[in-house]
Amino acid sequence: MSEAPHGAPIKTPAQLIAAVIAGFAVPIVIIVLLAVYVDNSTRTGAGTDSLSEAEVVSRIHPLAQVEIRDANAPRVYKSGEEVYKAVCSACHASGAAGAPKFTNTADWAPRIAQGFDTLWHTALSGKGAMPPRGGTSPDDYSDFEIARAVVYMANNSGANFPEPAQPAAGAPAASGAAAASGAAAAAGASAASAAQQAAAAVAALASVPQTAAPAAGGAQSADASQAGKALYQSVCQACHAAGVLNAPKFGDKEAWASRLKDPMDTIYNYALHGKGAMPPKGGSNASDADVKAAVDYMVGAVK
Ligand code: HEC
Ligand code: HEC
Repeated sequence: MSEAPHGAPIKTPAQLIAAVIAGFAVPIVIIVLLAVYVDNSTRTGAGTDSLSEAEVVSRIHPLAQVEIRDANAPRVYKSGEEVYKAVCSACHASGAAGAPKFTNTADWAPRIAQGFDTLWHTALSGKGAMPPRGGTSPDDYSDFEIARAVVYMANNSGANFPEPAQPAAGAPAASGAAAASGAAAAAGASAASAAQQAAAAVAALASVPQTAAPAAGGAQSADASQAGKALYQSVCQACHAAGVLNAPKFGDKEAWASRLKDPMDTIYNYALHGKGAMPPKGGSNASDADVKAAVDYMVGAVK
């Protein structure tokens, strides 16, 4: 009877040592591999950024969003060039849809001949394929910024319009807006931000020459103080009632005190010929006498 040789596979001391070492090493290797495997499961998408916080947030962010702006933040006006590049260039760079092409003087000459006011008005209200304000909302681009874009385009295409007479972006506008917002808050008009007021004032100014003429003309024959009051109400209060653009507020003795140190003739001159953000005659075409009367009316309120 033959039997298969019966015995342990380990025959020599060297094999024993190898078996003992393998007995320890193999489980350790398995444990290490398992640990790597478990850890690996958190690396789905390895090699891409698809699980980075920013990517995840952008995938799960709500569709509708409310943009909160600080109503008291000083408004920084964009330059004509910025507005042009962001908005108007879409059509005016290439002349798409029959738009007068940027720097093409032949396209622009007949339009420039209409004068800045007409062009500005057209840019605001639209014309043919030109959408009102280039398709933007007044919250994003104020009338003043659109005016700057018109001037920028026209001046690069053969015109020589002056920059719109409003505060440039920067220190005076910023401090003006901040001060105006303070005044507005004090007056309880918390909802209206300085920027909105400024935009409204600029908008009001656009219609001033038309409305002011009859008001001033009709008032001329009347008593001077009446004429002054009428002009104030039709023109000057656009800025001076709430202190828009840092205008000295009607009835605010403190705001006027330092200005009233000047002789009246100087103050009349500022009102007639402008000063800083204050346009000549407040942007109207009232007679010198009426503007002086309006100054008297305003000064009278703080005496
Ligand atoms: C969607 C295309 C488009 C955009 C965007 C656009 N425009 Fe125009 N624009 C036109 C077209 C088209 C005309 C020619 C309209 C016509 O004469 O019928 C035009 C004409 C004008 C004119 C001349 C108006 C006149 O009286 O002849 C001015 C000024 C103007 N655009 C200003 C602007 C400004 C400023 C912006 C940016 C805020 C702007 N446009 C953005 C298409 C555009
Ligand atoms: C677009 C806004 C605006 C309108 C409209 C406006 N003003 Fe002003 N006004 C100002 C601002 C801003 C100042 C402050 C200017 C400065 O000190 O740099 C000012 C200052 C003045 C001053 C003080 C000048 C001084 O420092 O002594 C007088 C006077 C004045 N305005 C009169 C008028 C009269 C009169 C009208 C109407 C015919 C008028 N303003 C319309 C913005 C306006």
